[in-house]
Amino acid sequence: MDGYTLTHKTPTKKDFLDTADFDQSEMLDIIKLSRTVRDYIKKGGYLNSLYHKSLAMLFEQKSTRTRVSFEVAMEQLGGHALNLAPGAIQLGKHETIEDTAQVLGRMCDMIMSRVDRHESIEALAKYAKCPVINGMSDRVHPTQGVGDMITIFDHWPAGKESNDVKVVFVGDATQVCNTICEITTKMGMHFVHYGPENHKISDEWLRKGQENARKYGGSAIWSDDPACLFGADFIYTDVWYGLYDKETPKEVYMADFYPKYQVNDELLNATGNPNVKFLHCLPANRNEEVTDSVLDGPHSVAWDEAENRLTAQRGLVLYFGNVAEATLDYIKKGGK
Ligand code: CP
Repeated sequence: MDGYTLTHKTPTKKDFLDTADFDQSEMLDIIKLSRTVRDYIKKGGYLNSLYHKSLAMLFEQKSTRTRVSFEVAMEQLGGHALNLAPGAIQLGKHETIEDTAQVLGRMCDMIMSRVDRHESIEALAKYAKCPVINGMSDRVHPTQGVGDMITIFDHWPAGKESNDVKVVFVGDATQVCNTICEITTKMGMHFVHYGPENHKISDEWLRKGQENARKYGGSAIWSDDPACLFGADFIYTDVWYGLYDKETPKEVYMADFYPKYQVNDELLNATGNPNVKFLHCLPANRNEEVTDSVLDGPHSVAWDEAENRLTAQRGLVLYFGNVAEATLDYIKKGGK
């Protein structure tokens, strides 16, 4: 199939709350759309698919990548993004999330939100009549997952099929770990969470990965044995301090993770793969979960990964803005 034809002409769901709500063909549609639009824009193409459309960006937490990538994506597609930072609107002390959702859903064409608790993104989706995109909750980080899969496809190990590719997530079972388990197994890959038992991926997410593996091939396991690193094509890590709104003290998390789970040159060597790639969702706590030598070294694709947040957000706002097919037709005809 070419880069212009989608399996699904319109989204099957109004909202993008979790990659687990979508099947493989739907996720591949979003990834394909994102990559085709990226290639067109990189060659100097212009798009106006979201002309006069607005995206409300509602943040309960700080953000660099998610905020900037959605704002730039909307601007590049002819639309507009409103940055509703913590404390900037009535939400919280004077207005509920449900009432905020009703108002924003009538004024804006889409909402993207980063929330402290997953229940809040579900409430936004329930009460807003427009599409809602999850910009990270305590449970999952689905827009990160789309950008990460794009990066994995961009750096695909030569000659391998999906069922031969192994992704090892090292360290804390963050919401990013949950999403990476879900999306890599949905693509038929082998997923390993390598981390201490008191921070292991939950049975719920491991089961979701194993259900995907039964459907698409691959596997999903947790291990604290460094032997599980062997044969990895991708090593992924995230910070060790836990949720932003209730960060674990440094002395506690260092005792749990350091030095065994630090991604350093020795850990990369333990994969036995000279072409192994390193991923990090960022921000990184340098020389805690990853050394400078790895993050800035030849195996790192973390900066491509950060750029692919923008690649993914363009695809997501086009897809959930219901202009994916029209945009791909326009590009296919050569655009203007
Ligand atoms: N990876 C990520 O979501 O980065 P921000 O917190 O800066 O958005």
